[in-house]
Amino acid sequence: MSSQLDNARSENHEVLIRFDDVSKVFGDVNAVDGISFSILQGEIFGIIGRSGAGKSTLVRLINALEKLSGGEIYVDDVKITSKTRSSDLKQLRTNIGMIFQSFNLFGSRTVFKNVEYPLKLAGVDKAQRRTRVLELLDFVGLAEKADVYPSKLSGGQKQRVGIARALATNPKILLADEATSALDPETTLDILKLLKKVNVEFKTTIVVITHTMSVVKLICDKVAVMNDGKVVEIGETSKVFENPQHEVTKNFISTLRTLESGKL
Ligand SMILES: Nc1ncnc2c1ncn2[C@@H]1O[C@H](COP(=O)(O)OP(=O)(O)OP(=O)(O)O)[C@@H](O)[C@H]1O
Ligand SMILES: [Mg+2]
Repeated sequence: MSSQLDNARSENHEVLIRFDDVSKVFGDVNAVDGISFSILQGEIFGIIGRSGAGKSTLVRLINALEKLSGGEIYVDDVKITSKTRSSDLKQLRTNIGMIFQSFNLFGSRTVFKNVEYPLKLAGVDKAQRRTRVLELLDFVGLAEKADVYPSKLSGGQKQRVGIARALATNPKILLADEATSALDPETTLDILKLLKKVNVEFKTTIVVITHTMSVVKLICDKVAVMNDGKVVEIGETSKVFENPQHEVTKNFISTLRTLESGKL
């Protein structure tokens, strides 16, 4: 019994994404500056920090939307370096889904066709695509909207389509860059519940960038605080928020508290 538990525990603690002295330079800007840390399989991992801190750049390095300037990233079994060719990263990308603040849906395609798109790219046959798309739309609560165009959907519904599309190829990792920033509080809560459901049911590891403290508190197991391209603090969410160590984290939390309290 205890060995089974130990096994389960070590499986849960498997490193899925490892940053090793990672950097990204744009001209004379060190957007990401020598970052090393790991994200474990099954975690919901938050990344916070002020505008320009390097959050989006760091996350875009995971699926190689940006090319590394230095260091290495291990994603599952794949090692990404500054020398990795983007043609070698096709397999990596099918293992990573991404959702965005602006949803990034194809306006000229129906909900069904939006969700079907990554399956077509992956070479899945038509009958299987149909089954999978309907299953996903059911999962995100949009079974009725398959033939509707995105312009007819609310923001929350659009993000549900974005989530269904990101999950189409059953990725191990879901990257969410300010995925709820364009939504009202109630819809934000609905989307957070959906992300939690994705994490629990599919064991998807989720990396969440947000400016909203309640988003981190509600769903993130751990959080990293970025400033000037560096991770200045990292730990379990409750510990970081209850007992912030770094000046940047203290200021950030106090600013967010003021904003969310609604009192100046
Ligand atoms: N394609 C690019 N070309 C040049 N500079 C860039 C590029 N992308 C990002 N940067 C710069 O890198 C730094 C980090 O940007 P990044 O978008 O990662 O920040 P962020 O933490 O996501 O900010 P925000 O919260 O505003 O989204 C900034 O100084 C930004 O201007
Ligand atoms: Mg950003």
